[in-house]
Amino acid sequence: MEPESKTIRLHALAERAAVCRACALCETRTQVVFGDGNPEAPLMIVGEGPGMNEDATGRPFVGRAGQLLDACLKESGITRKHVYITNVVRCRPTLQEGASIRNRPPSAEEIHACSSWLQQTIEIVQPLVILCLGAPAASAIIHKGFKMTQERGQWFATPFASHAMAAWHPAYILRQHGEVFEAARRDLVHDIEAARLKVIQARREPQTSLFDGVE
Ligand code: URA
Repeated sequence: MEPESKTIRLHALAERAAVCRACALCETRTQVVFGDGNPEAPLMIVGEGPGMNEDATGRPFVGRAGQLLDACLKESGITRKHVYITNVVRCRPTLQEGASIRNRPPSAEEIHACSSWLQQTIEIVQPLVILCLGAPAASAIIHKGFKMTQERGQWFATPFASHAMAAWHPAYILRQHGEVFEAARRDLVHDIEAARLKVIQARREPQTSLFDGVE
């Protein structure tokens, strides 16, 4: 029997995630933002969690941070067809401030509640390289308590992919100004390029996976 394609397996997983009630974010979400891009891609990008635009559209990284990410991907010769993009949490974390609703970082409990969706997504896509955007993704994929200022741009072997690295989150870059903004943006382009080159290297290596032998 033909093995099911990654697309079919991801679709089935996304259908199950769409009705997830593992944490309180299910009460306020419009929809689950599961992931986007090419399930066959050797490079996976993992962000933090959906914001307002992602919650409204159901697609990751479609707001201002997503536009910056797309621009940096393009400068590195990459489009969304070359990557699979997802987030540590799949529902928008919000904060009510008076009459307005704002985005907020996910809590440790929310990240924990969502971790099985991330693990199953990685198990299906089996990326050679994972690029983590920001500390929550790096702490989930690389190691707990990841320090962006000290460890960004370094390669780590992880149980999820043989090669993982963290880069500045585009939303963090957007909060910077002047030369600091330009430098952080250059760092992100540089780190995406490094991830693209790492894919080329990883393709020549014998593949082992955390999920080998797992049914
Ligand atoms: N920020 C993220 O981390 N993920 C998104 O999907 C959008 C913004």
